[in-house]
Parts: sequence; C-alpha cells; structure tokens
Amino acid sequence: MFGKRTTFGGNTPGVGEVPRPVPSMARPEPAAPAPSQRRASDADSMGARMRSADDVLDVRTPVDAQRDKEYFQTKSAIFNALIDSIDLSQLATMEQQSAREEIRDIVGEIIALKSIVMSISEQEDLLEDICNDVLGYGPLEPLLARDDIADIMVNGSQKCYIEVGGKVRLTNVRFRDDAHLMNVCQRIVSQVGRRVDEGSPICDARLPDGSRVNVIAPPLAIDGAALTIRKFKKDKLTLQQLVKYGSISPEGAEVLRILGRVRANVLISGGTGSGKTTLLNCLTAFIEKDERVITCEDSAELQLQQPHVVRLETRPPNLEGEGEITMRDLIKNCLRMRPERIIVGEVRGPESFDLLQAMNTGHDGSMGTLHANSPREALSRLESMITMGGYSLPSRTIREMVVSSIDVIVQAARLRDGSRRITHISEVLGMEGDVIVTQDIFVYDILGEDSNGMLMGKHRSTGITKPQFTERARYFNEEANLVEALEKANVEQHELMGR
Ligand SMILES: Nc1ncnc2c1ncn2[C@@H]1O[C@H](COP(=O)(O)OP(=O)(O)OP(=O)(O)O)[C@@H](O)[C@H]1O
Ligand SMILES: [Mg+2]
Repeated sequence: MFGKRTTFGGNTPGVGEVPRPVPSMARPEPAAPAPSQRRASDADSMGARMRSADDVLDVRTPVDAQRDKEYFQTKSAIFNALIDSIDLSQLATMEQQSAREEIRDIVGEIIALKSIVMSISEQEDLLEDICNDVLGYGPLEPLLARDDIADIMVNGSQKCYIEVGGKVRLTNVRFRDDAHLMNVCQRIVSQVGRRVDEGSPICDARLPDGSRVNVIAPPLAIDGAALTIRKFKKDKLTLQQLVKYGSISPEGAEVLRILGRVRANVLISGGTGSGKTTLLNCLTAFIEKDERVITCEDSAELQLQQPHVVRLETRPPNLEGEGEITMRDLIKNCLRMRPERIIVGEVRGPESFDLLQAMNTGHDGSMGTLHANSPREALSRLESMITMGGYSLPSRTIREMVVSSIDVIVQAARLRDGSRRITHISEVLGMEGDVIVTQDIFVYDILGEDSNGMLMGKHRSTGITKPQFTERARYFNEEANLVEALEKANVEQHELMGR
C-alpha cells in the first residue's frame, strides 16, 4: 500500500502524554527497568531493525512523497486510536518486549476495527515506527541502532543528516513537525535530568549508551531545533586499525606507541570530528597497568583499559545558573589526587594553563586534545587560550612554558574525501629568540586524486633519526624500537625517491 518510512505523521499528541488506562494493561508485569535505564542500542530488541546505509538515504520521488503522505495519514489515525486506548505512563514501567507485545495486540485490533488493508510486512513496519515513537527516540531509532554511523545531525524537523564512511549524507528521516522533534529532544535530555525549551535552549546530554548529544532549540536555532549526536562506538578503533585504514603508516604507529609508553606529553590537534578523541584513546592503550591515570572530560568518551583509572566529568550549570564545574576545576582538583598522568578530553579554555603546569610538574605522559588545523596553529591557540584566561604573563613566558611542557603534537585531519589521516607527528624542540621551534617527524603528503574522487597520499618520514625524545625512549628501554621504526621509514622514503 505504501513505502517504508521512518517518520511519524498526523496530528498526534506528543510521546509523553498520558491518556486513560486500558484494562488489558492492568495485568501484573515483571519488574521493569525505568525508561531512563533503557539503552538506545536496545533498539534491536524494540524492533528497530538494522538497515543498510542506502536504506535511510533520501532518494524520494514525487510518487514516494504521495505514498508517504498516505502512510502518515494511516499511521496517524492508528496512533491516535492507540494512545486513546492505552496508558503511556503504565507502558513506561513495562519491559520493552512486553510493552511491544501490548502495542502489537492493540494495533492489530485497531487495524481490524478500522478495516485498514495492509500486508503483514507493512503492518510490521508500521508497528516498528509506532513502537519507536512510544517507547524510544522516534524516527531516530533506526539510525541509533546502526553501528556504522559516526554522527547524526538533525536540522529542524524535516532534515536529518548522518556521517557514514566519512561522508555526510541526507537521510529520509523526518519528524512530524517541530513539536515532535522537540519531544524527542526533551525525552533525550530528561534522562540526564535536564530540560530544553525556550528558557534554556542549549543543552548537552548523553544517551544511555554513552553517545554525546547537543541540542540547541528555538529561538536560538532559527529553523527548528538542531540535535547533534556523536554516536558512541563500543569498539573503539585501535592503532592497528588506524594502520589498516591508512590513517597512519606502520612506522608512524610504532612511534605513537612509543610516545604513549615512554610518558611523553602529547597534544593531539585536529579539526572537528577529525578523530582526536579516537587517537587519544589509542595512545592511552600503552599506559602501564600500574600507573594512576585521571581523565577529565566534558562528556566521558574515553575508554581506558587500565585498572587504576579515575574518570571525571565536568558539569554544566543548573537552571538557576549555579553549580557549574568547569574543566579548570577538574584539573585543579586532579592535582590533589596524586595522579601519575592526567588525560584531558578537550582543552578549550583557561584550563590549558593548568594542564601545562601539570605536565611541567611531574605528571609526565599527560595528554590532551585541542581544536586546530596544524601543529603550529595548535601552539598559537594554546598561547591565546592562556592569554584569554586572564593570566597577565608575557608571551615569551607562555611560550617557554609550552616548550618545557609539550613534547609532541600529533595532528589529525578529516580530508575532503571523508578519510581521516594523521597528517603530522611533530616535536616541540625549544625556542629560537621568541619563536617556538618544532620539527616534523612524520607528515602526510597528498599526491593526487583517483578516478573515484578519493585522495591518494602517503605518509612520509622527514628523515629525522634521532628525535629529542630518544633519550626518554632509552630510559624506557624503547630506543632500539624507535631507531628501527625511524630507520625503516627513512629507507622506504629513499626507495620511493629513487624510483
Ligand atoms: N582514523 C579513523 N578512521 C576512520 N574513522 C575514524 C578514524 N578516527 C576517528 N574515526 C571516527 O570518526 C568519528 C569521530 O571521531 P572522534 O570522536 O575521535 O573525533 P573528534 O576529533 O574527537 O571530534 P570532536 O571534535 O567532535 O570531539 C568517530 O565515529 C570515529 O570512530
Ligand atoms: Mg572529541
């Protein structure tokens, strides 16, 4: 009768409204988890079946649009009848599977009563959409159920983009209207005890599976609420996988492993979504098991495998504007917790000063990420963040501090073809006059473009065989490995040039 849709249409009330109870719901049910304990990844069990990437992409023709309209009308009629006959608050206390069964029974009855003609598979699709609206995050459920999506970006009720395979694509996911979208946003943020509305239109939250969420609502978002989700990957990428994907050469990866192991202070720089947090997570894999590590993040994304880890998270102010705990507060507190290493998810303000101080005062092996497009830019951003933090230090003093704190800057980038590469591994050497001197050890060169528009390039050693951190490597018995990796990279480089 009509094509598959992931949206919900019609004049239906919001997903949280409470109509009268239905007798069949009154039967005793097993103890159910609170809705807030439900995980988005349970979507499978809720019936949100995995779909392929192409399944959700927007390829609508006018005929499809007409079919969608019919589908919306039917679905909205059924949905209206459904919420007239069930008690949603009671439903929320039930286990997912029982709630689904309950909805299935009632929807079946409604279809029969209204004499709607539908095939079994159409009924299943409809049921899935209705369950997603009532029990989950509505049209977002199929996207949340997929593991290959990196980001979900909803721009108002009619446009939803995803990032898949490094590319940003428009999907066929739509919300009924702005109110429906706001309802879903509200449902997400209420799980972490927050509210989003005109009064507090900006909100950060986390899905139960750990995905990072940001909502900005009207009037600040002019064309309807904007919802951005960075999907949490349970299986974080490893350094080996980065080598496999060509993000770094095997020799470059060995140098990164050594940097993690020998307690070098590392700053990971990159643009938005370039893979900074992923890289930071990779580097932390080489921290020794007995080191006491403290992580500070705005939204806990890192997954350290070591046993002796304390994880800290900042807190935004409450509705009255009170109770905020900033990254600075966390790092300062960290210093009283006897950390051996401090890992900062993202440095974006005056806390950079505290991180540098920590790096400088016996917390070797500390790491952090920062938004910048090159290692040079990372250094100047660091300096300007400290200056803007209100420290009236001469810039030379700040630079000296940077030089004595940071050993290496690793630059990550998302290239225009969607691929993610580590474009620089650069050492911070020292000062020459008033200028910080850096030295690239590995760089990524773009050589051209293939017939599919994918960039071709190569990681190249710059010929450095004895970086400044060789001494450190010796201390940790990694010098031989470091020399071997760098020499191998240099030999490959010469062979390439000789060809
Ligand atoms: N080298 C890589 N190859 C393929 N995918 C990657 C790579 N690095 C990261 N990703 C994926 O890209 C997405 C974004 O990565 P990540 O969260 O690390 O970026 P980020 O730079 O920290 O972003 P933000 O600036 O928003 O904090 C994730 O889904 C991650 O799995
Ligand atoms: Mg990040």
